[in-house]
Amino acid sequence: MTKITVAKSAGFCFGVARAVDKAFDLADSGVNAVTLGPIIHNPQIVKRLEQKGIRSVASVDDIENGQTVIIRSHGVPLSVYDALNGKEVVDCTCPFVLKIHRIVAEQSALGRVILIAGNKEHPEVQGIKGHCGGPVFTFETLEELTEILDNLKQNREKPVAIVAQTTFNQELWRNFQQNIENLYTNVSIFDTICSATSCRQQEAVEIAQKSDYMVVIGGKDSSNTRKLFQICSRYCETVLIETKSELDKLQILRHNSIGVTAGASTPADIIKEVLNTMSEIIKDQGEELDFAELLEQ
Ligand code: F3S
Repeated sequence: MTKITVAKSAGFCFGVARAVDKAFDLADSGVNAVTLGPIIHNPQIVKRLEQKGIRSVASVDDIENGQTVIIRSHGVPLSVYDALNGKEVVDCTCPFVLKIHRIVAEQSALGRVILIAGNKEHPEVQGIKGHCGGPVFTFETLEELTEILDNLKQNREKPVAIVAQTTFNQELWRNFQQNIENLYTNVSIFDTICSATSCRQQEAVEIAQKSDYMVVIGGKDSSNTRKLFQICSRYCETVLIETKSELDKLQILRHNSIGVTAGASTPADIIKEVLNTMSEIIKDQGEELDFAELLEQ
């Protein structure tokens, strides 16, 4: 018998669902709107939105007169809000990201150097940087953090505030927290990893530990999906797929205990299609199937 365990936390988080719903609502109301960057890191949803008349633009310069601008859940730097002045804006920045914007603005105003644990190329991190009123550094590893703090020590231990990208790896973040006291004295730490991310990563670990094959569903450009892939890969053979067409039939038939999870930007219907295809593959071979946990959507 093949056992499939599906993460309850798989799929859209609150912030993504809110932004995507808003964009589709605007499309259905016939509003002439564009999104500033893809609404989420999921090509299928971006395409569906395009078919409804809402496309993504790369920069403020690409917005035409009269167009409504949708700011996605990742948020944008302060300079972008300034550039959008006078335009109709629907701000779908996730409230958890807005909270980080407030923290870094306040801490910068208090004279603290801001350190962001996260991917410096990621739009959320670029947005956070753009709300810092003073020096700001990003890091992803303990080595990078140590180097930044060593340099700051030469400047009489300037006060430091550390925040994390909402989807940062929970284990790495805990590791930074454990080491920070030995590295620097004048530091305030703000735990800004979103609870949806912590739950999703924790559940991925639990399922991967008891599975021998993990299927992670989500956009290959999605940072939180890629993190799930990395986390699961530590415990068992793992594959990252965007749609059911990438499922490897032989791999599915080779394993008896399969786990499934999905990133925060993966739509429920894509997850369901993958699950249906997996169950068809298994049943077609005359195998019995046990769904340990079904999606709660
Ligand atoms: Fe918001 Fe957390 Fe999702 S920050 S966009 S609810 S992953």
